[in-house]
Parts: sequence; C-alpha cells; structure tokens
Amino acid sequence: MIYDFSFQNPTRIHFGKSAMQHLAEELQNFGPNILFIYGKNSIKKIGLYDEVMRTMQECGKKVTELSGINANPRYSQLLEGARLVREHHIDLILAVGGGSVIDCAKGISVSAYCKGDPWTRYWENNEPVDNDVVPVGTILTMTGTASEMNAGSVITHEERKLKNGRVFPLSLVAPKFSILNPEYTYSVPKYQMVSGIFDIFSHLMEQYFSGDDDCVSDYLLEGDMLALISATRKALRNPYDYEARSNIMWCSTMGLNKILALSKTQDWEVHMIEHQLGAYTDCAHGIGLAIISIPYYRYIYKYGLHRFVRFAQHIWNVKPEGKSDDEIALEGIQRLSDFIAEMGIPQHLHEVGATQEMLPLIAESTIKCGGYYVPTTEDVLKILNDCF
Ligand code: NZQ
Ligand code: ZN
Repeated sequence: MIYDFSFQNPTRIHFGKSAMQHLAEELQNFGPNILFIYGKNSIKKIGLYDEVMRTMQECGKKVTELSGINANPRYSQLLEGARLVREHHIDLILAVGGGSVIDCAKGISVSAYCKGDPWTRYWENNEPVDNDVVPVGTILTMTGTASEMNAGSVITHEERKLKNGRVFPLSLVAPKFSILNPEYTYSVPKYQMVSGIFDIFSHLMEQYFSGDDDCVSDYLLEGDMLALISATRKALRNPYDYEARSNIMWCSTMGLNKILALSKTQDWEVHMIEHQLGAYTDCAHGIGLAIISIPYYRYIYKYGLHRFVRFAQHIWNVKPEGKSDDEIALEGIQRLSDFIAEMGIPQHLHEVGATQEMLPLIAESTIKCGGYYVPTTEDVLKILNDCF
C-alpha cells in the first residue's frame, strides 16, 4: 500500500431479504418532502412501487414523482428533476432502480442549486461542488454499477453526443443509505443481468490492470473476480438462486465503492471508450464494455505483461509450463473472451447498433487516460475496428 490515502464511505447498507424493513427508520432522518425517482415499468411489475409508496405514506411524507428515467440517463431528465427539487423544496431524493436511476438522482442532487449550467461546471469542467447537495437514498433493483455506494454519476448529453462520468467526493454525493435485497434482481432479464455482471468484472479489471507494486487491493480484486465467476455460473443455471444473486450483488457493490481501489493506480480506458460508444448507440453499458475489452486488452497487454500473466494464472488457472509470458497472457485474455461467450454476450459492435461511420467519431471523442499505455485516437479506432 505504497500510495497514501484517506478514506471514508458514508453509505449505510441494509442488505438481504429483510432489508426493506429499514426504509421507515431511514426516512425518519429527513424532512417531509420526497422526490421518488424511478425508471420505466419494472418496479411496478415486481410490486416494489406500491410497497415503497405505502411506506412513505405511513411515514407521513409528501411525495413528488419523477418516472421514466432512461437506461443511460439523459441530461434533460436531470434538469427536470432539479426543477422539481426546487419547486417542491425536496428534502430527500429516493432512487428506486438500477445505476441509471441512481446516477440521475445523484446528478439532480448536485445540480438543483448549482450556480450556472451544471453540465458545463460539473460534467465537463470537473469543478468542485460549491452549492447545497440534496441527500439521496436508494433501493437497488439491478446490480452492476455500485452506484448505490459510490459518488459517480454518468449522464448522457443527448444533443452533444457526450456520455460523461463525474466522480464526486463520497462525503457529498454518495447515498446516505442503500437498501439491497437480491430478490429484487430476480426479474432482471438475462441480457441486463449479464450486462451488469460484465460491468462488475470490468470495474475489477480496470482497477487491477495497472501498477507494478505488491498491493493488498490487487489480491482483494482477485478474490472478488473469483467470487463473481463462480456466482455467475450458478445464476446462469438458476436465476432464482438466492445465494448466487446475493453474491453477485455484493461483488458489485464492493467492486466500485472505492475500497478495492485504495492505494492503486488504475486504467479506465475501456470505460472511456464505452461511454462514447453509448453516447452514439445507447447500448447497454456492460455489453459495450465486454465487446471492447477483448481487443483493448490484446492491444495493450504487452505494456503490463507481468500483470496479464498473473491474471491468467490467478483467475483462469492457466498452466505456465512450456509457455512464454506472451502465450500465458494471451491465453488469459482468451479465457476472458470464452467467459463472455459463455454468458451469451454479443461480441461485435454492429450487434449493438454501431455503424462504420460512427467509429471515427467515437474514437475522436473518447477521453484517453490509459494505464500501462495511453492510446491515441488512431489506437482507439483500430480497437473499435477490431471488434466491429
Ligand atoms: O427502466 P426500468 O423499467 O427500471 O428497466 C431497467 C432498465 O431497462 C431494467 N431493470 C432494472 N431493474 C430491474 C429491471 N428490469 C426488471 N427487473 C428489475 N428488477 O434494467 C435496465 C437497465 O437498467 P440501468 O439502470 O440502466 O442499468 P445499470 O445498473 O447497468 O446502469 C447503467 C448506467 O450506469 C452507468 C452506466 O454508464 C449507465 O449509464 N454507470 C454508473 C457508474 C457509477 N455510478 O459509478 C459506473 C459504471 O461504470 C457505469 O458507467
Ligand atoms: Zn461500469
């Protein structure tokens, strides 16, 4: 742990089948006005809408609703939420859904009282937050992003074709509480389930494939990856396997609540490319990540060869005897590719709505941060063409 850090994550987690029992006690900590924000129909289909509404009413809350938040939430929806917060003097934003709903809630929470244009200030220029922030609480229905325990907010500016992620300070923007009942994820369609699973895997890899030091965080990341692979195989066989779904949920929360990133350099390039892919195609986040990861890692593995060799051996049990380091590393990436295929995830960009004409635009607008290697626009274009 050679790099210094200070760390506190303020989110209180209620986890398990009885987690919802804690909603009423959490609501007592806030004033009477709640903005209840959710996506399209899923929470009504599983009965969660009625349950949450009933609890809020029993607690004497005045509820304003904002529904229809898109997967890949739009800036226009954030602005609408910010307007509602001001108009109804909202004391708590309660987000019920997946990462998109929660990200939108966090975006609203920092934007409602922003002096100036929130997009320009917070998602483009990364300015520090200098206004009041409305507290957020969450009830999670889809795993993958860890938005329930971090301070990230990824918003799509539809007119400007930009999908920008902002990581705010945990103390300001992380949810005050999050209710995590794995049973709520039973109804997630398989396509979304595997998208979320790959998102988790990608978060773990993006934190892992960087650095040369011997760091506790890397061993913890490996543990989370192994737990996730095991639970995924069980959940694919039986989506109602509580143990598997609960393990996936906790792998996800741990995957990006900052604990596994402590004292680590990181490489978020796959996420940067996917965000612009999403801005152009509106594809499911984790599916886009899975498609990009294989050509990206094949392109850059030589720059961090030792770490890719370790990945192959520790995660995929690749036997080193009689093989060069290059062969071991490439076999590890091939096993990752096989795992993606095993989950039934598409492997080409044209399958998620990308066209040849989009590729240069995506490559050009992608933020280049890298890890072992910082790619150029030309590199990103080659990577995109490799998986088109
Ligand atoms: O709109 P509804 O009806 O709720 O349907 C949603 C949506 O269509 C559905 N769903 C959610 N829970 C369900 C369900 N369907 C049936 N049963 C349930 N219980 O699933 C679909 C996808 O939901 P979404 O929230 O978009 O998925 P996810 O959690 O993967 O969030 C993706 C967004 O989060 C961002 C992504 O870029 C993307 O915009 N990310 C946020 C991060 C963060 N805050 O730290 C980090 C990530 O890397 C990521 O970038
Ligand atoms: Zn992600």
